[in-house]
Amino acid sequence: MKDLPLKNLEHFDIKGFQDDLISWFKQEQRNLPWRKDQDPYKVWVSEIMLQQTRVDTVIPYFNRFLELFPSLNDLAEADEEKVLKAWEGLGYYSRVRNLQSAVKEVKENYGSVVPNTPQEISKLKGVGPYTAGAILSIAYGIPEPAVDGNVMRVLSRILSVWVDIAKPSSRKIFEEAVRALISHKEPSFFNQALMELGALICTSTSPSCLLCPVREHCIAFHEGVQDELPVKTKKSKQREVRLAAMVLTDENGRFLIHKRPDKGLLANLWEFPNLEIHHPFESGKEQLSEFFNQTFDLIVSPGKNIGLIEHVFSHLIWKTTVYTGRLTGSFENSPEWRLVTSEEMEPYAFPVSHQKMRKLYEEHIENEINDD
Ligand code: ADE
Repeated sequence: MKDLPLKNLEHFDIKGFQDDLISWFKQEQRNLPWRKDQDPYKVWVSEIMLQQTRVDTVIPYFNRFLELFPSLNDLAEADEEKVLKAWEGLGYYSRVRNLQSAVKEVKENYGSVVPNTPQEISKLKGVGPYTAGAILSIAYGIPEPAVDGNVMRVLSRILSVWVDIAKPSSRKIFEEAVRALISHKEPSFFNQALMELGALICTSTSPSCLLCPVREHCIAFHEGVQDELPVKTKKSKQREVRLAAMVLTDENGRFLIHKRPDKGLLANLWEFPNLEIHHPFESGKEQLSEFFNQTFDLIVSPGKNIGLIEHVFSHLIWKTTVYTGRLTGSFENSPEWRLVTSEEMEPYAFPVSHQKMRKLYEEHIENEINDD
């Protein structure tokens, strides 16, 4: 009973499939910067960046990250602020904080050599089964599965597997499929070819079956059901959160910025002061001003509403109304609160939503000047 979802493996031409898939990959693979060599550190960085982020977006980040931190030791020894700044805009920032913790551990406990066994590599922070398999196969040529959503989609069609890929338990079924299918001679090419096929041909909306190098092997294609696969239940809707934020400046045009807590969403990134609005009739700007008047020796005069910023996370949607504000009074920088000029703000990493607030503010100032 256990093997039922993979029943089609029984009569599957494994060798023919491997040959067709791998020769196509050798011919057609994209020229991507992380494919220049098999350095495990670079493979690791690329695979972490590529989780939840598209290849086109990742390329410039990858190149810049490796210029800043060319080796595992460089990243292990780097200042966290600088690392977050290099990741600014990529999102899912815990990925890079975990990556840095993990490379520190590799430096300390493995002599700066990324471990090459599933047991050791899987113990590193942020290294789940997908990342472990990707590094082991691509950097070390070890035939381990690297199954992400794209690989599940491709294999669900090739083998006509009708399990719900949104369920965490499904990954194991596809790992079992890869263990049966993977080339032991060229595991790196095999895994990358599955990823490449998912990116270029076997896409989620309209698979290009007529161009597919493994169409002959594809059971969903033979049955004409490729558009019905994979089975994927919809995730629940994101919760909406209303916020008010204030771009606060002093008489010298310096900005007040705040460091987020070291745990939770966007941990350790910097932001403009903001709070969540719980009551439908509150604007939030009075509460923000009051907070500063009470917490610091500052007088805050709220200004204009300069726009609304929406930001979608995997589980939340932030709807932030942005205000200007003027602060007067004496202020001393602390680890969490800083008053900085526009230039001094550059090294601080901000979430995309707060970068947009700064842009809104700059446009607002420009318009005010033009209106005068
Ligand atoms: N997606 C995930 N890993 C990838 C890789 N190594 N190359 C291209 N796309 C990917």
